[in-house]
Amino acid sequence: MKSIASAPAKVILFGEHFVVYGIKAILCSINKRVTITSSNTEEQVISVKSDLGEISIPSSIPIEEINSPLLPFIYIAKKMTEKFNYSGGINVTINSDIPSGVGLGSSSACCVAAAGSISGLFTKYSKEEILNLAIEAEKTIFKDTSGADCTVCTYGGIIEYDKKSGYKKINTRFDLHLVIANTKIPHSTRLVVTKVKEFKEHNEKHFSELCDEEIRLIEKVKSILNSGDMKSLGQAMILNQKYLDQIGVSNETLRSVIEDANKTSFGSKITGAGEGGCIIALVDKSNLEKTLRNLQSKNHECFSVQMDSKGLDTF
Ligand code: MEV
Repeated sequence: MKSIASAPAKVILFGEHFVVYGIKAILCSINKRVTITSSNTEEQVISVKSDLGEISIPSSIPIEEINSPLLPFIYIAKKMTEKFNYSGGINVTINSDIPSGVGLGSSSACCVAAAGSISGLFTKYSKEEILNLAIEAEKTIFKDTSGADCTVCTYGGIIEYDKKSGYKKINTRFDLHLVIANTKIPHSTRLVVTKVKEFKEHNEKHFSELCDEEIRLIEKVKSILNSGDMKSLGQAMILNQKYLDQIGVSNETLRSVIEDANKTSFGSKITGAGEGGCIIALVDKSNLEKTLRNLQSKNHECFSVQMDSKGLDTF
């Protein structure tokens, strides 16, 4: 039997890092996807194949003995085989057009698509069950995840999310277009989150003030999204970037791409963990091409994306 699932990449429009500390964030899924195909095999082996590498292990190996970036997928496969008392093996193949390790949610989208695809070999889970399995799997390599990325990759569209209340869809008048520029500086979300934790521990008062600012900003953004005022939304991004700069997740390269992007777009900021990865610039049809040309002329790798409204899809 074969089971296929696909999930979109994401951007964090507002609130990355602060969301780890319970503050609300606003996220959007975008039109780049990963597709995962799983099948049962008689051999008692779990195999995972992706552009990042391959692993094949006997189904009986305890999860604690596995040290691999592909661990989340092995975790899901083992969890399902154990739950459904299945004695055979599973092959998992990952095909992705999401650049990895650059803040676009590749790892979360893979966890969501893998949870959808592998569970589909055994049962028909709801989106909520698939999301919970995906977050559990992601925690095997990044235990402090806020769960925000997996949530938007599951439900799609624009959402507000906080750890306590979960997610709520946001309906907006925007036909959201973004230009994404990739600094090509690799980063580890786990390490950047740890660095922010240290910043917080050494600067409790400053961090708490920034959390309050971020809460106010997000409330304002929710009403801007409702009114459809692009210029104000762009200004809100510029302000959010100032907060991210203050918690130490920006650097010279990111600041310079953002400065370039702000010249032709409505506003721009880091998306995701920072310290490298991508920036997003808010545009519409009037300045999309101009922003692409502007960033390309400065030798930045860039492309445009639109909102995905579907989220997880299973076949
Ligand atoms: C990473 O895309 C977003 C962070 O806020 C971490 C998280 O929410 O788990 C940096």
